[in-house]
Amino acid sequence: MSIKVTPLSDALGAEISGVDLTTPLDPETAKAINEAWLEHLVIVIRGQILSDEDQVRFGGYFGPIGDYLRPGTLRSTAMKERHRSVMFVSNIVENGEPIGTLPDGEMMFHTDTGYAQNPHKATTLYAVELPGSGGHTIFSNQYAVHDALPDALRQTLAGRDAKNAYEFGTMIKTKQRYDAPETATAIHPIFRPHSETGRMTVYVNELMTEEIVGLPEAESRAALDEVFALQREPRFLYEHVWQLGDLVMWDNRCTLHARTDFPRDQRRLLRRITVEDSAGATA
Ligand SMILES: [Fe+2]
Repeated sequence: MSIKVTPLSDALGAEISGVDLTTPLDPETAKAINEAWLEHLVIVIRGQILSDEDQVRFGGYFGPIGDYLRPGTLRSTAMKERHRSVMFVSNIVENGEPIGTLPDGEMMFHTDTGYAQNPHKATTLYAVELPGSGGHTIFSNQYAVHDALPDALRQTLAGRDAKNAYEFGTMIKTKQRYDAPETATAIHPIFRPHSETGRMTVYVNELMTEEIVGLPEAESRAALDEVFALQREPRFLYEHVWQLGDLVMWDNRCTLHARTDFPRDQRRLLRRITVEDSAGATA
């Protein structure tokens, strides 16, 4: 199989064509896709008809499949029957119970599982049902944000850690301080090297990052707000407009993603499977 790689924006993202993910990939093709992904950070493979198992097999070319990290109580009855790592991102309600998580509306920039000690390196998302408009996924390139930091801000952040906290199911930060005992938290370096490329990234995000460790609160808030504003600048972004059958895989180590709003009365269903960062675990 020979693949074609077509960049989707100046900032990040590429479409890969010439692959059928319903059958196993030969090692050369899997390697070529991995290289394209490390270079472009987000890859889009369109027109696929994928079962849970097809998506799990695809994720497995890049590392161990990640376990679904949310507390078990947040897993719907429908999902308990599926592969252990499958999560539905959906607003659909069946028999009075939501089948998935993160249902409606806009979602702030974040990186998946950034509240964990060893966050999952990749997320794959497959489009099963889509609304007539909106619900796009916007990606931001954190290598480029790192390289564009103003000197004063870079000096404030250098050598510091930030605390990430995430209240499961929250799409927009509503509390200035997390307080629920079930909130997962982790401390990560703000300048965090990518576990495979070694390139430096900015690893804070407006949904999960609560504070810069060791800075007075006002100074921490001001520095984070400056970074968040930079992360939203159009020069660092690619906006993905979903089509049915799209499989998208992004690199959580060097990108953030956000979601645009969409009509609440329309169904949206995407199937998510993540990949663990085995290099990060041993680093
Ligand atoms: Fe996400």
